[in-house]
Amino acid sequence: FKEPQPLNLKDYISEVPDFPKPGILFYDISTLIRSAEAWQVATGRLARIISAWQPDLLAGIESRGFLTAAPLAQRLGCGFTMLRKPGKLPGKTISLKYGLEYGEDELHIQADAIKPGQRIVVLDDLLATGGTLAASIDLLRKAGAEVVGASVLIELAGLKGRDKLDVPLNALITYE
Ligand code: PRP
Ligand code: MG
Repeated sequence: FKEPQPLNLKDYISEVPDFPKPGILFYDISTLIRSAEAWQVATGRLARIISAWQPDLLAGIESRGFLTAAPLAQRLGCGFTMLRKPGKLPGKTISLKYGLEYGEDELHIQADAIKPGQRIVVLDDLLATGGTLAASIDLLRKAGAEVVGASVLIELAGLKGRDKLDVPLNALITYE
């Protein structure tokens, strides 16, 4: 996929003050995925980077991580698996609790989702403190994965979430 013209993805991110709580500036990707052209460009850039890691399977983190991981899995010809909040996945699951920018949460994966040693790239919309991605990487390893990379649309670099990760991280858009 060739980009028609250089496009600044930041122009498609909405900045919403005081959401979901007072004092938090929320970076909203709704406006990015709503634009056919910008979303094509974004997924094209992700595909180029992620295909170099040669994954067998992509893992998406509920809920907005699904939006990036599912179309990319199709495009790269690999499978897709969900990391979900408690009570959503049927059958036996493996889980991990983690601290968030605002609160605490828990992620699950189906116990049979990953074959031992499969190469996994994990995707989310945004990296803030890194708690969610770090927990996801631990959870994937617990499930037998070799995690070969992590990818987000947006990195809030000032929070240094990247330092919590021990795999290569790619971010399409960075804010200080
Ligand atoms: C947001 C965002 C990331 C996470 C980043 O998700 O989508 O998953 O926070 O924060 P961290 O790097 O500090 O862990 P949230 O848990 O709000 O849920 P959602 O994606 O289901 O809306
Ligand atoms: Mg999330």
